[in-house]
Amino acid sequence: MKIDNEKLKSLFSKLGISQKYGATQWALNLWDEFGALESGDTVVDLGCGERFAPAMSLDPTIHYIGFDVNRDSVEKGSLNYPQYRWKHSNVRNEMYNPTGVIDPKTFQIPIEENVADLVICASLFSHLETFEVAKNYIHEIQRIIKPDGHIWISWFRSPPNEVCSDAKRTVFTEAEIINMIGGWLDLKLTIGGMTEDYHNQWIMLGQVKSTNEFLAKAS
Ligand SMILES: C[S@@+](CC[C@H](N)C(=O)[O-])C[C@H]1O[C@@H](n2cnc3c(N)ncnc32)[C@H](O)[C@@H]1O
Repeated sequence: MKIDNEKLKSLFSKLGISQKYGATQWALNLWDEFGALESGDTVVDLGCGERFAPAMSLDPTIHYIGFDVNRDSVEKGSLNYPQYRWKHSNVRNEMYNPTGVIDPKTFQIPIEENVADLVICASLFSHLETFEVAKNYIHEIQRIIKPDGHIWISWFRSPPNEVCSDAKRTVFTEAEIINMIGGWLDLKLTIGGMTEDYHNQWIMLGQVKSTNEFLAKAS
């Protein structure tokens, strides 16, 4: 999906989210460059917040599904972009949904299997609190993503940060992160996350490994 940067910029300015333009435009251009998002694709945005639905609306062939534990984000999204599917679950997160009653360690995301060409997890795992929750979300993504789908995911890692289970800024060990993604993802790009800078996340674009290719390489 090739985006018109000027159209995206003026849309974000109109929506009052110009400060999110740079990072969004950067991600969209990388997805285009690496073939992670094409016209007609289905995008599942986990912990969707508010910025990718407007961006996707620039290509009317894209199918977008936004999921969040924050009711306001989902309600606002469904009001402004009724052409998309919006899902809210009352899952507990100490920062974003402290009164939530559903346990994130065992919860199933209300999206059917094998549907996503691209799963976006932008600044989601950096708030998931524990390794058990993160592992459950990884299992859920494996269920939802298509066999050749892509994933955009970001983390705070240790080192260089201290391990932390705070929802404000969750940090996993590098080994935990590699264990969660290794074996099923081919990484096409990793960038950042080398300093303790508060917002410096380790960002990855990966694609589900092709089993056949994997077997062919092994033989
Ligand atoms: C830092 S914001 C990022 C929003 C958006 N992805 C972006 O990049 O602009 C984190 C988002 O994750 C959501 N979130 C927190 N815990 C969650 C959970 N367990 N499941 C799904 N979403 C969650 C929050 O409600 C919030 O919208």
